[in-house]
Amino acid sequence: MLAGAASAALVPALAPSAARAARRKVPFGAAIQFNLMDGAPAYRQLFVEHCDLVMPMNALKFNLLRPTREVWNFEPADKVVDFALANGKTSRGTCHVWWGATPDWAKAIESPSEAERVLVEHIETVGDRYKGKLLGWDVVNEVVANDPLYENRSLRDTYWLRTLGPRHIPLAFKAAANADPKAQLAINEYDLEYKGPHYDERRTIILSIVRQLQDANVKIDAVGLQGHLYADKVIDVDALERFHRDLDALGIKLLVTELDVIDWKSPPDPQSQDKTAATLVSRFLDSLFAVKPPELVIAWGLTDRYSWINDVMPRPDGAPSRPLPFDRQLAAKPWFEVIEKRLSAA
Ligand code: XIL
Repeated sequence: MLAGAASAALVPALAPSAARAARRKVPFGAAIQFNLMDGAPAYRQLFVEHCDLVMPMNALKFNLLRPTREVWNFEPADKVVDFALANGKTSRGTCHVWWGATPDWAKAIESPSEAERVLVEHIETVGDRYKGKLLGWDVVNEVVANDPLYENRSLRDTYWLRTLGPRHIPLAFKAAANADPKAQLAINEYDLEYKGPHYDERRTIILSIVRQLQDANVKIDAVGLQGHLYADKVIDVDALERFHRDLDALGIKLLVTELDVIDWKSPPDPQSQDKTAATLVSRFLDSLFAVKPPELVIAWGLTDRYSWINDVMPRPDGAPSRPLPFDRQLAAKPWFEVIEKRLSAA
């Protein structure tokens, strides 16, 4: 007992999590909200303890970085990236091009050549500033049409598509590669894991964008599966495996970039919500690992206390959502155990 107590005192505070992280064969990360970091040491500590990678959830989005054309607001992103690096973590960037983060001042630009200038300048400036600090970037996020079959279109109708056409995608990738040639460049997308023609089509479109970029000699390294998993949808394990194999054959890596569980239709019972979530995360990861381990697995936050699901897809019955690996009191839930086991056993 004495010996135990003595050696415990010699172990630095972070040794247990460092040891855990070292056992992981696939790194685990999470997105952090910069606006919650100050005055919330327990929130920050959760990332320090459990993550190999910590990335800004919102601070690198276009509208936050550039509230007006003249003003660059790097402070929040710097804060997160510095926090990650100071704690021995890696980090990555999301996202250069996203319909949900295009500022109104940019959308007011009508001239295609002006729009192109703004887009390229934005990506090159931001990419260059974080060069060497980020593993890579989601260069374009959610460019596939939400329901391609029903809408009869492949790409989402966005300002960038309307103004520049599909070529805004290679333009963005080229600018990102110019700014940071070593960064891992990804196309990031949701709803790529479920069963049905709608989802088959979304997978096909991603593969086709990747092939077109490669055929044009534009650098693309990875596909990010956001992994916002609906507890009420069926994961198509076979289709996901095929998709992964097809990407692998093209030399494209697979990342899980925004993992969480949307449980708005599950019974309002914390234990069953947590069990469903763990089973779902496990099924999803198992089908990816069946082909080959993903490069990274990143959760879209760590604690149920702070999640976009609470705002965007709250439970109609008012019961709390339980989307993330730690509960509102910051205690680990069964889905974190799934992460620990799965990523260590790669
Ligand atoms: C969300 C963040 O979680 C929110 O905090 C923010 O207000 C809006 O964006 N898909 C994405 C993410 O690619 O960037 C979104 O993040 C969630 C859905």
